Amino acid sequence: MTKQTSTKTVSAEEMARQFDVCDKIRALGGTRYYYIRTFGCQQNEADSERMAGLCEKMGYTRTDSPEKAKLILVNTCAVREHAEKKALSIIGQYKHVKDADPEVVIGVGGCMVTQGHRADKLKNSYPYVSFVFDTGSLHKLPELVLGAIEGGARRVESCGGEFLIPEGIESKLETPHSAWLSIMYGCNNFCSYCIVPYARGRERSRTPDAVLDEAKRLIESGAKEITLLGQNVNSYGKDADFDCTFAELARRVCALDGDFRVRFMTSHPKDVTDELIEVFASEPKMIKHFHLPLQSGSDEILRRMNRHYDLERYMSVVDKLKAAVPDVSLTSDIIVGFPGETDVDFEATMAALRRVEYDMIFSFIYSPRVGTPAASMDCQIPHEISTARFERMINTQNDISRERNERFVGRTVRALVTEVSRTDEKMLTARSDSPRPIHFAGDASMIGSFADIRITKADTFSLIGETV
Ligand code: 5AD
Ligand code: SF4
Repeated sequence: MTKQTSTKTVSAEEMARQFDVCDKIRALGGTRYYYIRTFGCQQNEADSERMAGLCEKMGYTRTDSPEKAKLILVNTCAVREHAEKKALSIIGQYKHVKDADPEVVIGVGGCMVTQGHRADKLKNSYPYVSFVFDTGSLHKLPELVLGAIEGGARRVESCGGEFLIPEGIESKLETPHSAWLSIMYGCNNFCSYCIVPYARGRERSRTPDAVLDEAKRLIESGAKEITLLGQNVNSYGKDADFDCTFAELARRVCALDGDFRVRFMTSHPKDVTDELIEVFASEPKMIKHFHLPLQSGSDEILRRMNRHYDLERYMSVVDKLKAAVPDVSLTSDIIVGFPGETDVDFEATMAALRRVEYDMIFSFIYSPRVGTPAASMDCQIPHEISTARFERMINTQNDISRERNERFVGRTVRALVTEVSRTDEKMLTARSDSPRPIHFAGDASMIGSFADIRITKADTFSLIGETV
C-alpha cells in the first residue's frame, strides 16, 4: 500500500501562525508595494514565487521598481562567486532607497545567506538590510517583515540546519502559463565543487498528494507548462516513508486532465532509470527535452567531482534516450577548469560534446566555493587556461547548436507562446520541445496558448517561424 506521509514539513501550527501575521500586516492598510530580485537557478525562482505569494497575503502589491517599494527582497545564489558578487553589489544599490525612505524594509534570503560568513557580512557591513533569512526560513518571512515594520532588532534567521518543507504557501507565479513545481528540496550528492547540499540541506520529498494537488491547482489557473523541480529528481521519495518513484510521480502528473505539458529538472545521470526513460518516451504530455548534466567528459575528473558515473555509463543513458525518442533534445551543464583538469581531460569533454550533439549547453568556469572539497584540492587551474578552454568549448558547441537547429527548418512544431520577443517587440517568442526560442509574428493575445509554427530559418541561438 502507498503510504503518503512526510514528517519533514513545517508544522501546521507554525504555518497558521505565519499566516495570522500576514493578516496583521494586511490590516495595516494602505497601498504598499513589494519588489523581489532573484538570482540563480529555477529552484530560487520557485522560492521567489513562494515569497511573492506571502507578500501578496501580507497585502503588498507587486512592482518592478525598487524605488517604489516598501518591501525589497533579494533572493541570492551561491553556486558561483560571480552570482554572490552581483547580489552584494545590487544590495548595495538599495541603500539609497532606504536613505530616501527609512520605512523601507529590505530582506535578503537564499543560498548565499545560508553560509554563516556571508550572513555575518551582511549583518555587519550592510546596516540598511533589515533582516536576512536562510533557505530553511522562507516560511518565516511574515514574522520577519512585521518585526522590521515594528522597529524590532535586525534579525539573522537560520533554521540551524533543520531544513523543513513549507506546505500551504500559495505561490504568486511570474508567468501563469509556465509554472515551477518543486517536488523536493535539498541534495544528498555532495559533488565536490558544489555548495548546494550545504545551502539547501538534505533531500526531502513532498508527498505525491501535495505535488498532485498543486499541479491540479496550477492547471486550473491556466498553467500550460509545468516543470517538476528538484536538485536530483531521480532521488524523489527515497528519503520518505511513501512508496512512489519519480517516474511514477511524473506519470501521475501527466495523467491529470487538461491541455498542458510537463518537463523536469534536474536528473542526475547516475540515477536515470529505465522506468523514467519509458515514461519520458511514452507520455504524450512529456516535453521531449532531457537535461542531463555531464559536467566533464573525463573519467578522472568525474571521479574527483564525486559524480558516481563514468563516461561509459553517461553515454549508455544518452544512447537509451536517443533510441527511445529519436529526436530527443538533450542539454547539459559542463564545468571547465576543475582542479587538476589537464588538456587531455578537457579534450575528453570536447569529444563528448561532439558525440552527444546537445541542442544547447550551460557551461561554467569552475568557481571555488568555501567549504567544498574541491576548493582545497591541489592544482587549481589558472584563469587564463580556463577561459581559453571555455571559449573553445563555446565555439564548438555553437557550431553543433546551429547544425542541430537546422533540422527544424521546414517542420511544423507545436509550441507554447511565452512572451513578446526580447529583441523585437513586433515578434512573439514560443518554445517547443527544444529549449531554443522560436520567434514569429503574432498577436500578443496568443501568449499563454499553444500555436503550430512552421520553422523557416535556424540560427545558433534561436529559430524563426510563422504560424500555420
Ligand atoms: N563552479 C562552477 N560551476 C558550478 N556549478 C555548480 N557548482 C559550481 C562551481 N563551484 C554548475 C554545475 C551545476 C550547475 C547548476 O552549476 O554545472 O550543474
Ligand atoms: Fe550540486 Fe551535485 Fe547536488 Fe547538483 S547533484 S545540486 S551539482 S551536489
